[in-house]
Amino acid sequence: MRYIAVRTATTTANDPYILLHSDMAASGRSREQRWSLAGKTALVTGGSKGIGRAIVEELAGFGVRVHTCARSDADLQECLRRWGADGRLARVTASACDVAVRGDRERLVAAAAEELGGRLDILVNNAGQTMFRAATETTAEDYARIMATNLESCFHLSQLAHPLLLAAAAASPGGDASAVVNVSSIGGFVSYPALSVYSATKGGMNQLTRSLAVEWAKDNVRVNCVAPGGIRTDIARSSGLKLDPEVARKMGEAEMARTPMRRIGEPEEIASLVAFLCMPAASYITGQVICADGGRTVAA
Ligand SMILES: NC(=O)c1ccc[n+]([C@@H]2O[C@H](COP(=O)([O-])OP(=O)(O)OC[C@H]3O[C@@H](n4cnc5c(N)ncnc54)[C@H](OP(=O)(O)O)[C@@H]3O)[C@@H](O)[C@H]2O)c1
Repeated sequence: MRYIAVRTATTTANDPYILLHSDMAASGRSREQRWSLAGKTALVTGGSKGIGRAIVEELAGFGVRVHTCARSDADLQECLRRWGADGRLARVTASACDVAVRGDRERLVAAAAEELGGRLDILVNNAGQTMFRAATETTAEDYARIMATNLESCFHLSQLAHPLLLAAAAASPGGDASAVVNVSSIGGFVSYPALSVYSATKGGMNQLTRSLAVEWAKDNVRVNCVAPGGIRTDIARSSGLKLDPEVARKMGEAEMARTPMRRIGEPEEIASLVAFLCMPAASYITGQVICADGGRTVAA
């Protein structure tokens, strides 16, 4: 570990200098280096649709080699076919995996490590499902499924990826930190009726982000979280919900009425924040949960 001595505004000639670790700092890097992800590798869960697909495309567009997953192999094959014709996206690889299943998670990280040449700089825990169900009607199976899909997968995949992330940070020529980005939800901050279990998983992801950030700072692994508001995806259908279109329309209108920007977000508006959090430009940011929600969570 190298140290640099820093004299602060309040130190005098006799005061000891403050010692800071210099290995992990981004100082001395050019703007191009700070805003670059070239040569990095990433595992993004749930990349066949919605926000995850936008994240895969954003990272790959920055020159990241990405491995992704989803439960539906047919959807993944369709994505790979489309990406195959498109420059940097052609390098994306994928494997089918249900992140709710422990063995699948182990196989996923092994597959990613193999596809990415044994190196992993970035993990994005995005795959998730929602469930609208009154607490009094929620079964033990409902609870276990949503917890395993959203929260347990986030913890276990981070745990499995940790040795690879640590090794990538140690091998980074510029001293760049590795990055974990979790995708939670504003449901982890505000409370909606019939979303108690989903919201509990997202609140758990927010706190897990802070805890892992503190635990892994010494390993040069940054851990952050993006909490989206309403984003234009098909999550209700992918989660197996059959919402009455009229009820869905009214829910959407009520949500927009409470959103200062008065519009739904687009998947790309989450992907750009995720990409930023992975960059050396975000090198002093860890343990943060950032809402991308058109102002929804700060409105009176
Ligand atoms: N859309 C929103 O308004 C919104 C708001 C706040 C937070 N979020 C969060 O953002 C994340 C992405 O949501 P989205 O809206 O993009 O959903 P989406 O369009 O339904 O996409 C979800 C992706 O995750 C995959 N997936 C779902 N369950 C999985 C599992 N058990 N194992 C592996 N892959 C799985 C899906 O593929 P398969 O179905 O083939 O598995 C799909 O690729 C979720 O964590 C969600 O909670 C979304």
